[in-house]
Amino acid sequence: MQVAAQAARKGHHRLATDLKSVVESSRAASSPKVTSIAQPRGDLADLVIATHPEVTLKELVLPTALGSLVGRILTEQRQRKNLLDHGFEPAHRLLFEGPPGTGKTMTAAVLAHELSMPLLTIRLDSLMSKFMGETASKLRVIFEAAEQQRAVYLFDEFDALGGERSGNDVGEARRILNSFLVFLENSSSESLIIAATNHRQILDRALFRRFDMVLDYALPDPKQGAAVMRGRLGTLAKGVRWTSLASEMEGLSHADLVRAAESAAKSVILMGRTQIAVEDLRHALEARQAGSLG
Ligand SMILES: Nc1ncnc2c1ncn2[C@@H]1O[C@H](COP(=O)(O)OP(=O)(O)OP(=O)(O)O)[C@@H](O)[C@H]1O
Ligand SMILES: [Mg+2]
Repeated sequence: MQVAAQAARKGHHRLATDLKSVVESSRAASSPKVTSIAQPRGDLADLVIATHPEVTLKELVLPTALGSLVGRILTEQRQRKNLLDHGFEPAHRLLFEGPPGTGKTMTAAVLAHELSMPLLTIRLDSLMSKFMGETASKLRVIFEAAEQQRAVYLFDEFDALGGERSGNDVGEARRILNSFLVFLENSSSESLIIAATNHRQILDRALFRRFDMVLDYALPDPKQGAAVMRGRLGTLAKGVRWTSLASEMEGLSHADLVRAAESAAKSVILMGRTQIAVEDLRHALEARQAGSLG
């Protein structure tokens, strides 16, 4: 593409167009499955929600160790062919676990965006209640799709399968979990299969071994908290001394901090000001704290 651009700059338009079309057709040939799945059709359409996330890796604030795991997943996927040629599978069975609002769904979206794949989300609890006895066969449909259509498949509310929740038929949940694990085991590395849960403790320890990687999410420390808020506010928060807000951030999730930042920003804008002060943020964080307690 760079050669084509250079040719165009030199006025060799014919050459530039030819080069461009060659590159584009070879790209299309190497990844036809990704582009053909704008919206899932047929059976799959009732089972998954398809999105094309725009959120980038840069926006995701993670502790260093977690960040490098995410980087590793991206690298292994980008070098998928290389690894497979040598007889190794890229990591593709992933378990995300941790408290609400700490970036599990966001990470799935980032992986989809960075790898130019759609994100297909499956809410396991609603799948189970909607299809009752048919859940296992619906799972089969999804895993078969995962072989055909390269995408990030996010199984949200994974704990719906893992524990003895009141209201669920425990025997049925067990059976579904077992089918899930068989499908998972046999899944090829075309797609990423991600299971996400808030409840590590109710998941069977043996379950963790079935995944290529387990990512543990946690509430942000003050530095990460500041990065999350700064990321949302941009230049509006120039000059804010974030260290003075550490105690107000304590106990809040990334999602809480984003909402506090947005609320503070809106107040400031509505007052006709152009800069957020520490006090604005303090107020918004305290309101969040009160909200999360009550
Ligand atoms: N690590 C993070 N870095 C930056 N922003 C984050 C992070 N985690 C969460 N957010 C913000 O909070 C929003 C909600 O987060 P997300 O949906 O990823 O949480 P979750 O871990 O999936 O929660 P749940 O367990 O409730 O599904 C995101 O869209 C983003 O704006
Ligand atoms: Mg989520």
